[in-house]
Amino acid sequence: MNDLNIEEIKLKLKNSVSSKIYEHCLRTMDESIKLAIKYDEDINKAKIAGLLHDCGKLINKNVGNLEHSILGAELAKNNYLIEDVDILNAIRYHTTGREAMTMLEKIVFIADKIEPNRSYPGVEEMRLLAYDNIDKAIIKSLRSTIEYVNKRNLELDIESVKSLDYLIKGGNNF
Ligand SMILES: [Fe+2]
Ligand SMILES: [Fe+2]
Repeated sequence: MNDLNIEEIKLKLKNSVSSKIYEHCLRTMDESIKLAIKYDEDINKAKIAGLLHDCGKLINKNVGNLEHSILGAELAKNNYLIEDVDILNAIRYHTTGREAMTMLEKIVFIADKIEPNRSYPGVEEMRLLAYDNIDKAIIKSLRSTIEYVNKRNLELDIESVKSLDYLIKGGNNF
């Protein structure tokens, strides 16, 4: 699937992001593996996608919050030699989600928000929900993101709204 093995990927990542982000990536990787087991997804794909989801947060570059996912998918392809489109999309859409997300995309999206170091009001409920009904967990997470962004007049990516609408309408197909 890819020319680099997991240790090479880890080393490359460690050298390009801060130690704080690197540790978060490792925890997101572990959480993605657990979710993959729960939801019958490919464990190796979940492992790589979870590990690389924030590879766009380069230590030597000021990358915006929405941009880092797009850059991350590009780097995953060009620097980490990931060819699997599902993995690349899981990285590309981990911040906003999108309509008709695949299970791998859902896993990385929510693993990022519930990895053990995450702490925010409602995180425990989110952790339980993620393993009970991943769609409901994503709906809850998108709602609170949209609320947060609106309250602070920050930039809202239309993809977040579209993802939420799609899930609410029950468009998911698992
Ligand atoms: Fe991220
Ligand atoms: Fe992250």
